[in-house]
Amino acid sequence: MAQNTTEKPVCLTRNKDMKDLVTKIRQVAQTGCPAVLITGENGTGKEVMARLFHYYGPRRDKPMVTINCGAIPADLAESTFFGHEKGAFTGAHERRTGCFEQADGGTLFLDEIGEMPKSMQAKLLRVVELGTFRRLGGKEEIKVDISLISATNKILSEQVKSGDFREDLFYRLNVIELNVPPLRERKEDIRLLTRYYKDHFLNLYGKEPREFSDDSIESLMKHSWPGNVRELKNAVERCVILSEGDIIDRENLPMQIYKNGSIHSVNYHSLADKIIQIKFGSSLKQVEQEVINQTLDSVDNNKTEAAKILGFTRKTLRSHLDKQNNEA
Ligand SMILES: Nc1ncnc2c1ncn2[C@@H]1O[C@H](COP(=O)(O)OP(=O)(O)OP(=O)(O)O)[C@@H](O)[C@H]1O
Ligand SMILES: [Mg+2]
Repeated sequence: MAQNTTEKPVCLTRNKDMKDLVTKIRQVAQTGCPAVLITGENGTGKEVMARLFHYYGPRRDKPMVTINCGAIPADLAESTFFGHEKGAFTGAHERRTGCFEQADGGTLFLDEIGEMPKSMQAKLLRVVELGTFRRLGGKEEIKVDISLISATNKILSEQVKSGDFREDLFYRLNVIELNVPPLRERKEDIRLLTRYYKDHFLNLYGKEPREFSDDSIESLMKHSWPGNVRELKNAVERCVILSEGDIIDRENLPMQIYKNGSIHSVNYHSLADKIIQIKFGSSLKQVEQEVINQTLDSVDNNKTEAAKILGFTRKTLRSHLDKQNNEA
């Protein structure tokens, strides 16, 4: 959870909006702003921005603790955040500190904040408002001084409207919102990031220098990068591993990039033209089931892709499917 935070994260860009964003992060961090919310699609660099925020701020030499709110099992959530005293519950053999205490003096990064269960949202609000909490099974009020960064790939204001996210917590966390633009809106970064990660992986795998051919760069520029910088980084790594000689050719690119998105079943442009049919008289619940099932059909039952299209995490999609199965 705690990271080596004195190092400046690699953040490359030639894009004006991204440069403005980095300037804003630096300014906001230096003022000691207590809570920022970083938004953006998957893989755009939200964690990079969070680490930059910590790096530019007055807490740089203190810990930065990262918690993925979508990955904590519900029964461990409270202990993960607030820690517990020895004997607080069966299996609590010794006292443990939670992430709030571990981050004291530094930064707590709450990743995937939109996945936080509602019961935890209420408890988080209390700490954010009072700056104090109790360990599970503990009596002592513990005071912490932290800077809080939250990140999400969801539109939190819509989750507030739908009742999935507490409005009061939303305003507390969202003192300043920092939005990271998708890679398709900053095409000038594609070449820069490709070159950087090519050299990075050539070095990592101990391979001889090589360059991307003009054709392959053209394919990279045409791709829409639904998985943003992470997708590009993975694609470049694969090219470095698979290429021989001093040129990385189009054929070395992953198929969906090389064929410009038309081979793989997950072609978001052609999927956008598909129509989902729902019988008149269906209940909202049936509509939801149909949308989920027909989306799964359209991507050959690929749950990761279906979740992406539906705006769910894989975990949320799985829980919808489990619910359907249990009700069937
Ligand atoms: N501007 C950038 N320069 C260099 N590398 C970057 C940049 N932005 C992102 N990366 C790299 O891309 C990968 C994905 O970035 P990061 O984990 O910050 O994205 P994210 O928005 O948090 O993704 P997710 O929504 O999936 O959690 C990381 O390996 C990161 O180092
Ligand atoms: Mg992330």
